[in-house]
Amino acid sequence: MSKVKVGIIGGTGLDDPQLLLSKSEIDVDTPYGKPSSLLTVGELNGVPVVLISRHGKNHSIAPSQINYRANIWALKEIGCTHILATNACGSLKENYKIGDLIILDQFIDRTFKRESTFYSGLPNDLPGVQHIPMGEPFCEYTRNVLIEATKSCGFDMHERGNIVIIEGPRFSTRAESKMFQLWGGDLVGMTTVPEVCLAKEVGISYSSIAMVTDYDAWRDGDHVTVEQVAKVLHENAEKAKNVLLTAITLIGKKNWDEVIEKNKLCSRMAVM
Ligand code: ADE
Repeated sequence: MSKVKVGIIGGTGLDDPQLLLSKSEIDVDTPYGKPSSLLTVGELNGVPVVLISRHGKNHSIAPSQINYRANIWALKEIGCTHILATNACGSLKENYKIGDLIILDQFIDRTFKRESTFYSGLPNDLPGVQHIPMGEPFCEYTRNVLIEATKSCGFDMHERGNIVIIEGPRFSTRAESKMFQLWGGDLVGMTTVPEVCLAKEVGISYSSIAMVTDYDAWRDGDHVTVEQVAKVLHENAEKAKNVLLTAITLIGKKNWDEVIEKNKLCSRMAVM
């Protein structure tokens, strides 16, 4: 059975390194520069785990300034076969309620300022041009593990969610928020893209657990504030942590040989 290693990319308020047993911190560099934080390396129920804080340890890195390529490269280099990401997000629908957890399955990309591929054609990048399929952006097998883990923890959850990714750092206008609803978005966030795309480019099984912190700006007379987001994250951070702990244990019990092979093939076949 092939070995697994799980990378965790912790989002705002959901990046607690206490998650890991027997931890140490390592400082790594990549051809793309430094990742957002030191890598916290440890083990959970026999499964090796590596954690990165997406916005840096003190939430000092804005969504457009995150070095997504360095983060994914660092996790790839250290041998991660899986990435579990956590994301705070706004809700675009009444039935996605504050504190709900969502195992994302689709995104709509509205970002425009980010390095979004390892295959840019520049001399120091990976060779060739890669057109990575994005019909199912998230790893279905790892998504199923997160669904099982969230259900077994007993939290209110959604097995699917389509997230609109905005450039930020500002929140959306009411007009934008209503437009995202018309597009079929369920949620709105700032960091899933290009993270999920880069992971797929290098053949890592990536899945995300998102948490609703607010109703964005579509409700008349109401709009998201940082204060509200922070309050909800503070009150609910334990939920995401419990799901991650359960999911990592489940990942350690499964045989991922076929999935790992499939990911490698998908990445290789996408290069022209
Ligand atoms: N993260 C948390 N809430 C958000 C919102 N309403 N829009 C974008 N990103 C968010």
